[in-house]
Amino acid sequence: MESLEPTNKKDQEQLVDEIKHTKDAWFNHPMHLYEGFWCGDTIFKGVIAFQSQFEAHDSDIILASMMKTGTTWVKSLIFTIVNRKKFPGNISEHPLHIKNPHELVPHLEVKFSNADQPDLSNVSSPRLFAVHMPYLSLPTSIKTSKCQIVYVCRNPLDTFVSLWHFFLQFEENKGIVPDMDLMEEYVSKYCNEIIPFGPLKDHLLGYWEESMKNPQKVLFLEYEGLKKEPKANLKRLAEFLGFPFSEEEEKGNVIDDVIELCSLKSLKEMEVNKSGKVYPWFENKALFRKGEVGDWTNHLTPTMAKRIDAMREKLTEVGFSFT
Ligand code: A3P
Repeated sequence: MESLEPTNKKDQEQLVDEIKHTKDAWFNHPMHLYEGFWCGDTIFKGVIAFQSQFEAHDSDIILASMMKTGTTWVKSLIFTIVNRKKFPGNISEHPLHIKNPHELVPHLEVKFSNADQPDLSNVSSPRLFAVHMPYLSLPTSIKTSKCQIVYVCRNPLDTFVSLWHFFLQFEENKGIVPDMDLMEEYVSKYCNEIIPFGPLKDHLLGYWEESMKNPQKVLFLEYEGLKKEPKANLKRLAEFLGFPFSEEEEKGNVIDDVIELCSLKSLKEMEVNKSGKVYPWFENKALFRKGEVGDWTNHLTPTMAKRIDAMREKLTEVGFSFT
């Protein structure tokens, strides 16, 4: 589906009216089907403004992901890799100690939701941003400029469990009983591709196909791969971004310092992530849970797991296999 890219306020208002009838929700968070993806109510206007107003620079680096697939982690890695000359990973004054990764690498849909025209003029180059939107709906300038995209995906089973726990933490959801019946209901929604920014299949394949066509433009990472082989994947990431680790850096344990600084344990213990709040909807600590591969075995019944795993199988049928 082509991006509509409304150019003026009247077009934007018309779009808001048009999507109102296609409505669903994750817990108490309404979503609308817009250009074939499920877009949350709270950021919908931001999405439209972002599409029509954002001008990518050739040097921009954009992290793309579905929710709960390792976004926060990869934001911290990209920031640390790109800025490691200014802020070595082993210094106590590193910005990650005082700012959550979502502040250092902001989501553009949210930035454009908070301000009609956010001022990006003071952002130093390379500008680091993130998006949850599917590839097809990105502003044209992201596709046509030389800016780079890093995509991170995660096994659908752990992604579901992470999403489930994440949404249950919202204040507005208090009073909801998270029993097996409710989980069953959400497994059905998930399997029917009614998830924030989903369908998952379209989202993942959109970026994956682009990474196949244009590997200089899109780098594809997997949460599980990062967990299993962090060093090899960090080297890939740094090379792709044009900030490769030198031999000297490798010998000097610079890669290990980055891995350590950006680990779940390290980020979780930082005061800003214990008590801070970047987004109005939840506290920073909600972004850090277990970070384990295979946690789904502790939460899903075999039937639920089988249903979700069918999503993975469908992706395998079209040529995409998870690690
Ligand atoms: P779990 O809920 O399985 O623990 P996102 O950042 O896209 O919202 O993804 C959140 C998931 O990534 C959560 O998974 C969270 O615990 C995990 N996570 C957050 N920071 C991480 C890090 N530094 N290393 C590994 N996993 C991390």
